[in-house]
Formats: sequence, C-alpha cells, structure tokens
Amino acid sequence: EKLLDWLTDLDGVPLVKDIASNVRKLDGFNTRHDDIYIVSYPKSGTTWVSELAYNIVHKLDIPKAKSKPLDERVPYLEWVHSNHHQLESMPHSTPRIIKSHLPLKLLPNSITNGKHKIVYIMRNPRDVCVSYYHFTKMIQMVGYNGEFSNFFDLFLVGSVAYGSWPSHVQEYYTYSLSSGASSNVLFITYEELVKDPIKTIEKLAQFLDTPLSSEQLQLLSYMCSFSSMKNNPSSNYQWLAVSGFLKDDAQFLRKGTVGDWQNHFSPDMASSLDSLLADSIKDDGLLKLIDY
Ligand code: PPS
Repeated sequence: EKLLDWLTDLDGVPLVKDIASNVRKLDGFNTRHDDIYIVSYPKSGTTWVSELAYNIVHKLDIPKAKSKPLDERVPYLEWVHSNHHQLESMPHSTPRIIKSHLPLKLLPNSITNGKHKIVYIMRNPRDVCVSYYHFTKMIQMVGYNGEFSNFFDLFLVGSVAYGSWPSHVQEYYTYSLSSGASSNVLFITYEELVKDPIKTIEKLAQFLDTPLSSEQLQLLSYMCSFSSMKNNPSSNYQWLAVSGFLKDDAQFLRKGTVGDWQNHFSPDMASSLDSLLADSIKDDGLLKLIDY
C-alpha cells in the first residue's frame, strides 16, 4: 500500500516521514506571546481561515496579502520547509500566524502551556474524508490512485496522515473548554463559515482583538470566498503544482462545498462512520457541532 509507505508512527500518530522528523525538532520551539495558531485536522478549511486571519491581522491590506503566497505569510509549523529560521525571521511588528495539523499531544508544549491564541477549525468528517481522498490523489510523489472505498477504510481506522479524526477534534474541543471563560481557543466549523460567513468572520475578528466594520466584513467575506481565493495566485496553492509537489492538473481549491460526501458515500460507509463517532465522541456538545 503506497499510502502507508509514505507514513511513519510518532507517539501512535501516523505522520508523513519528513514531517515526523521535523516534529521531533520542534522540542523547545520558541513562541512569541502574540503568536496566533490556526489548527485543524487536514482538509477542514485551514487555508480559508488562514487567509481570513491574515487579512484581519493586517487590517485588509490587500496589496500585502497578494504580495506572497499564503504558505509564506502563514507558515506550516511542522512542514519540512518551515524550519526555525523561517519562523524566527518573521517580523515582530505584527503577530505571527502559524498553521498546524498536529494533534494536541504533538503540539510543542511552549504553545499549549502558554496563553497563545489558537483557532481550531473543524469540518464534518464525511466531507473531510472526501476532500482528503482527492487531495491525496493530487500528490505527485505518493502516486496513490485507490478507489474512494479504499481510502475510506484507512480514514476510518485512522491510518492516514495525522491519524484519527475523532481523537483530533475531541482533544482540542476538551482543551478549548478547559481554557475557561477567557478562552484562548476559538473553536469554529467549516459549515458555519459556509452558512454565515459574515457572522463567523466577525467572531474570528473579535477573537483576534481586531473588530471590523460591516463594510470590512463584507469585503473580507467576498475576498475569501471560494471563487476569489481560487482565482487569487497568492492563495490558490497553484505553486504546489508548479513546484511538482502536486500533479499538473491539481486543484487544491477543489469544490469548497458542504455535502460532497453524498457523491461518494454508500449508506454502509455513512453508518460505519456514525458508529465510530458514537463510540469515540462522548461529548454531546461536540457531536452537535458535527454538521453534514
Ligand atoms: S489542508 O491541506 O489540510 O491545509 O487543506 P484545508 O485548507 O484545511 O482544506 C481544503 C478544503 O477547504 C476548501 N476551501 C474552501 N472552501 C470554501 N471557501 C474557501 N475560501 C475555501 N478555501 C479552501 C478546499 O476547497 C478544500 O475542500 P474541498 O472539499 O476538497 O474542495
């Protein structure tokens, strides 16, 4: 199985080999007090929230947002190229915004013990699985070409990069509750962003201590809509196809909808995933947030 060859185990979590060795180097990671972390299970809307957060922090400075690709503006903590140097050399004038998909137990202690702002984004696991399947097929060096049912089986048992979906969301949800009333963790969902972008962006902006006017909210919602981001060379990840990481015809911003699972899931798959959730997520508050 090509997909499994690509992964290795770190503390019980399957990770891409290069990422696992990078995570080991993150011990003693230097945070800054005003860092903002955008954290999620893969394919949950990280790119969308990263672009939103960047524009909020930089007060909708559009030329600035277009000046560099998103992964330079919002580096990926555990990615091979986001070494300490890149993170250290980011300007001090505005907060750093850093993305990670690491499960809570693998995030450096300096982040979890601190009071850093963490935005956790959750998407319903059926659409995550579909998005993850298509994304995995786009990666040139993996050469994965399995059927959806094959990928689904791996996802169900957590044998994909970053491991079990229920554990990932449950751990961060509990962590967000434990941080109390003055919470430093904002837990938002992809589905609420789709249904009510203005209200959700407003919540994000308030959490980042940068309230926006209603005109700014409108503008930002438009700038970060699926089609605007897909047509924007600084946020559409086309550079990953240019560099050869993704296949030539890869569309990172693939569909951007809620419910594409209906085009992929059999009734049996839906019920297996439902039973897994019922067995592994004990928190009704969290179950209610899962929205198909
Ligand atoms: S990654 O690689 O894990 O960081 O991917 P991530 O950004 O978390 O998730 C990718 C999916 O998010 C969709 N996306 C968006 N949807 C709506 N609006 C906007 N602006 C947007 N930006 C990214 C993207 O299309 C992927 O979902 P699918 O369902 O595959 O289209």
